[in-house]
Amino acid sequence: MSKKILITGASGLVGPHLTGMLLQKGYPVVHVGRTKRAGKIPAFVWDVSKGELDAAALEGVDAIINLAGAGVADKRWTESRKREILESRTKSSALLYKTLASARHNVTTVVSASAMGYYGFGEKIFTEESKPGSDFLATVTKQWEEETDKINDLSIRVVKLRIGIVLSDKGGALAEMAKPVRWGVGSPLGNGSQYLSWIHIDDLCSMFIKAVDDETMQGVYNAVSGNWVTNKEMTQAIGKVLNRPVWLPNVPGFVLKLMLGEMANLVLLGSRVSADKIKQTGFELQYTKLEEALKSFKL
Ligand SMILES: NC(=O)c1ccc[n+]([C@@H]2O[C@H](COP(=O)([O-])OP(=O)(O)OC[C@H]3O[C@@H](n4cnc5c(N)ncnc54)[C@H](OP(=O)(O)O)[C@@H]3O)[C@@H](O)[C@H]2O)c1
Repeated sequence: MSKKILITGASGLVGPHLTGMLLQKGYPVVHVGRTKRAGKIPAFVWDVSKGELDAAALEGVDAIINLAGAGVADKRWTESRKREILESRTKSSALLYKTLASARHNVTTVVSASAMGYYGFGEKIFTEESKPGSDFLATVTKQWEEETDKINDLSIRVVKLRIGIVLSDKGGALAEMAKPVRWGVGSPLGNGSQYLSWIHIDDLCSMFIKAVDDETMQGVYNAVSGNWVTNKEMTQAIGKVLNRPVWLPNVPGFVLKLMLGEMANLVLLGSRVSADKIKQTGFELQYTKLEEALKSFKL
């Protein structure tokens, strides 16, 4: 019988796609989120800031996939927004720990989202052995992983996927990058040479499912295609797939800094992240070529 999977933060970009893939493969799924949504999937509510989760959500559950976290690019990084970005991750992981430590359950596996932001930015190629960065997102991701790691103490297998930029036509970074290109005003950002380590949403969701099923997987894995491109290459590839010329000069970095503040780092700096470790588990990425990935979407 297929394992029963509980997904937290399932209402975002990744959750619905992952839920669809799991259901298609015959896995029963339940959701846990901040609000109860009507629908076919059994749904439970948690209150992360109060530390409350209905233990009934765990009934029959074999594995938890934790996707919860306030969107890092959704709002300008004020101090209170930064706290929300951090605490929505650390406190939700801590709540999972507390619930798993105190309730009766049969959960054997927790697979948590993490982010390639762990490494910070730079020219070197980051592997799972690389040290964490020191910028805001790297600090958040490190603390998020540390909270998640506590679940190991409960003799539960923990896998963390350090996710790259998720490509999807339902939202996220690609939708934002494609908009100006579609309107004929697309252009590279900053000097355009910053690297983007991307992953197709199908591959990411397959990776989550493998991490649930493959009991040899433990610890951290980069969830990227391994075929990074520069910001300029990404913009041009989107232009090619949309059949729109990318001809405008680059958007200067200082303009983006004025518009976005510290958050501008997300688009002006980049990183090259290796996919070697996940490939060594036998995982085969369906999309390693950017243009094929882009063509698979309705942009
Ligand atoms: N998309 C990417 O490119 C990318 C890249 C690297 C890492 N990741 C990580 O992968 C995970 C899933 O990505 P995603 O793109 O699906 O994220 P998303 O669209 O931002 O959705 C995350 C979900 O987290 C829950 N959430 C939001 N604010 C929260 C808060 N303050 N407290 C508790 N829960 C909150 C929401 O679910 P409910 O409304 O159901 O509670 C939301 O739908 C995230 O943790 C993200 O950081 C994503």
